[in-house]
Order: sequence, then C-alpha cells, then structure tokens
Amino acid sequence: MIPVMRPWLGPEEAQAATDAIASGWVAQGPRVEEFEQAFARAIGVPQAVALSSCTAALHLALIVAGAGPGDEVVVPSLSFIATTNAVRYVGAQPVFAEVDLATQNLSPQTVQACLSERTRAVILVDQAGVPADLDAMRALCDPLGVIVIEDAACAAGAVHRGRPAGAGAELAAFSFHPRKLLTTGEGGMVTTWDAGIAARLRRLREHGMEMSAAARHRSQQPVIERYLEVGFNFRMTDIQAAVGLVQLGKLPEMVARRRALAQRYQERLCGLPGLLMADDPPYGLANYQGFWVLLPDDFPIGRDDLMRIAAQAGVSMRRGIMAAHLEPPYAGRTLSLPVTERLTTRSVILPLFHEMTAAEQDLVVSVVAEADRRKEQPALL
Ligand SMILES: Cc1ncc(COP(=O)(O)O)c(C=O)c1O
Repeated sequence: MIPVMRPWLGPEEAQAATDAIASGWVAQGPRVEEFEQAFARAIGVPQAVALSSCTAALHLALIVAGAGPGDEVVVPSLSFIATTNAVRYVGAQPVFAEVDLATQNLSPQTVQACLSERTRAVILVDQAGVPADLDAMRALCDPLGVIVIEDAACAAGAVHRGRPAGAGAELAAFSFHPRKLLTTGEGGMVTTWDAGIAARLRRLREHGMEMSAAARHRSQQPVIERYLEVGFNFRMTDIQAAVGLVQLGKLPEMVARRRALAQRYQERLCGLPGLLMADDPPYGLANYQGFWVLLPDDFPIGRDDLMRIAAQAGVSMRRGIMAAHLEPPYAGRTLSLPVTERLTTRSVILPLFHEMTAAEQDLVVSVVAEADRRKEQPALL
C-alpha cells in the first residue's frame, strides 16, 4: 500500500535518540534548549518554546494572548479540530470564518465579516503547508487590537513574502506530528518576538514553576521553587528534541523534495478538466505538507468512491481537510460556509512523502486519471 505519508527518519535520528538516553537526562533539558535555539534561528525569530504538541502550543498561545471567557476567537472551520478545540480550552467562543477556495486559508475579507467588539484573536492557519497571507491579516487586525496567532502546524519550511512562515507572527504554533515534514513523534513549538511572552510560555508548560526542573537540577545549591500561576505539563522530552535537531537539519532537503513531487503531480494532473490542486499562493511558497485535489462537480465518481477505488489499487488517500462546524461538539449552529463545505466533501489528499518513487506517484496519478475517464465510459459508472 502506498501510504499517504511516511516520515523521513534514518540512522542519524536513531543515534541522536540513543545519545540522549545514554546521557542519563531524558526529560526536558539541554537538548530541548538546543532545539529551541536552532528552531528560532531557522524561523528567524528570537524566541522558540518547545512543547508536547501543537495543540498545547495553540492552547498556551491563546492564554498569553489573553483570550478567555466572554471573548471570541475567529478560526477557520476548515482545519484539524485542534484549532477550534484550543479556543474552547480557554473558555472563549470560536467563530467560524469562511476560507478562500484556492489556498484553503482565511482571508481579510472572510474574517472581516466575523469580527465583533468581543474578538480577542484570529487563528490564521497555513493549511496543508500553504502559507496564509499573514501581513494582509495583520493589516486588518492590528489596528483593532486583535491578535493574529499563526497556526503553522503544517508549515515549517513554507515561505511567506520571502521569510519563513511563522516569522511575521506575534505568536506562531508548529506541530512535529509525523504527518508533518519535521517530526519528533509528537511535539510542538511556539515562536514569538517577545522575551517576556516566551518566559511565561516556559513557565506555563511546566506547572507554572518559576524555574525549570533542568535549571534546578543544575544548581549547586538547594532551591525552593515557587509556582506562580496554574500551569500544565506540556513539556517536550530531550529524546524528542534530539530527533528534532536532526530533522531540522534535513528540513530544507525535505521541502525541496516535496516541492519537486508536488510539481510533478501538478504537471501530470493539470490536464484533468476542472480539477483544482494545491498550489503556491502569489505571495509565498508552500512546503506541500499535504497535496490536495478538489474534484470538480462533474467528476464521474464521488470522493469516497475514489478513495475506495484507490485503496483497491494499493493507494492510500485521505479525505480532504475536515470542517469542525460539522462535528458534534460544534454542530447545530446555522452557518453559511459553502466554500468550506465544498472543500471538505469534495477534496482528497494524495500520498506525498520524501521517499516516494516516480513509479508510486505515477500509480496515484493513474488512479485519479482513470476515474476521470469514466466520464467517457458511462457503462462503468
Ligand atoms: C492545522 C493544525 N493545527 C493543529 C494541529 C494539532 O497538532 P498536534 O497534533 O501537534 O497537536 C494540527 C495537526 O494535524 C493541524 O493540522
């Protein structure tokens, strides 16, 4: 079976994890600090705070943004549900905004309609690694005092107006889940320009402790630590960070490979009438964390049938990005999100991974192309 995604991990990552274990320090420690510094340099920001997941990163970003009960936070419904759930964690109200068809991302036009006096923040998602237009969103939100949090879960290595995705945000949240390019198994990161915010994030990830456990351990003197606010255990381990450091070094090669494979899909599928595909936006470069195609209305078979036929041919596809407003915790409100609903019901994600071969990719293309040809052979429908 050709998987939809396979992380690119090798002996270097295994050795790095072994070294971390052999060091005797496996919890959050020096390797996490090193990973944070390297990640901050790669994004071009002064501060990066490593966490146990991007969900935790979004949760803490909302706390430091001051979002809480009585506030509204504008989010795309079209995103992995963690984007919306994080808003609920802090007791705020998610407000679903429509997305743009070509990028699958929020735009100032779609967000404008959702702003109110209670809007505290907007979570701008770089969906499937296609960077959203952060500058345009900040031009709308900054004058209103609305904080734009970039959900860059999928976007490490993507480029927005010549800078790494995440660099222009007051707060950006990244994921290192294996469905992403750079993986630590599970893991996340918040990047920020503000040293004070970074210090608070570090405290919040570690039970509100004023001093990290690693720093206490290093101290030659007994330390009586204090707990300054209610925090969480959102720590990354040094084993994960050791893997992350190796993966970060490979990120440029991963992005280049994915962009080459995405271009190959685009060249081979562009002949299919009406098929819309993941593409670079005019202002940036995608890392192609996911390669989605939107089936046109006259595509001869439905999305689920295409996935079923693909599975029979040995190709694993996934439905397109989910829509939170259609899931039980958020359903029931009358909402008009036609673009979101079209994308979530009519798009599929095709396999794309670093070590994918040309033959594997050609098989995926042939499955989609043959399904399209059923138009000319109605007897097969
Ligand atoms: C857009 C988006 N936000 C947040 C998350 C949550 O990331 P994590 O699994 O690291 O918590 C994901 C994961 O798929 C995602 O795609």
